Amino acid sequence: MTVAASIALSTQNLVAGYERDLPIVRGVDFSVATGELVVVLGPNGAGKSTFVKAIAGLVPIHSGTALLVGNDITHVPAHEKIRHGLAFVPQTENIFSTLTIEDNLRLAADILPKERRARRIADLYATFPDLAARPSLRAGQLSGGQRQMLAVARALIVEPSVLILDEPSAGLSPKIVAEVFSRLKAINRAGVTVVLVEQNVKAALAIADRAVILVEGLVRHEGPAATLADDPIVAELYLGARHERRAS
Ligand SMILES: Nc1ncnc2c1ncn2[C@@H]1O[C@H](COP(=O)(O)OP(=O)(O)OP(=O)(O)O)[C@@H](O)[C@H]1O
Ligand SMILES: [Mg+2]
Repeated sequence: MTVAASIALSTQNLVAGYERDLPIVRGVDFSVATGELVVVLGPNGAGKSTFVKAIAGLVPIHSGTALLVGNDITHVPAHEKIRHGLAFVPQTENIFSTLTIEDNLRLAADILPKERRARRIADLYATFPDLAARPSLRAGQLSGGQRQMLAVARALIVEPSVLILDEPSAGLSPKIVAEVFSRLKAINRAGVTVVLVEQNVKAALAIADRAVILVEGLVRHEGPAATLADDPIVAELYLGARHERRAS
């Protein structure tokens, strides 16, 4: 295998933002190996969501490039990125609350060839038995954790090579966060490369292979997840600040 072939997703000097004269992501080099689970950390307003939304095609890229398994996807429209194997689960509005679980999955399956749709929905029900138990329940009636699972199931229906999630733990209790994260880890082990944006530092580092810390739109630090939790730079930059806030 060549080195290039083992990179699932990368950005080179990526500059992105909502307005052309106001870059939020200010030149990010980022790389995720095939099969890795990488967490993107950083303080509020660091540009984490802007970064992943830019990769997903939802925020304009001013300069630089984004590659997905070697293909240049920098200027591929958001809805076509899914065909290249990139799935993105935004933090909010990631399911249709007024539709049933089944219809949420059917809509997600629409871009598949007709003959594959039923099979993939059945596969996802096998992976998420909670969803399979009540296919005609309206998604809005699900618990927070189950909603996130439905959002993930929708994203997985097309069998993406890379799954990006923006703060899937937001608003969930620690117990449910643990459940959601263990599902994500299992999905990763089954072969999906995962990029996870998180505020929940400890829980995210526990399942990640590697972490990248963004500060003010730049990569401030990165390293193996196992060593990062104890890294003094991380403590100073991020963990320390959060602990102080909690203690006060
Ligand atoms: N829709 C938008 N239009 C203009 N500016 C925005 C928009 N969304 C975010 N920003 C700005 O971009 C900067 C980075 O925001 P972003 O949401 O990417 O940070 P974040 O790291 O995801 O923060 P958080 O941890 O709070 O989710 C902030 O200054 C924010 O005000
Ligand atoms: Mg965000």
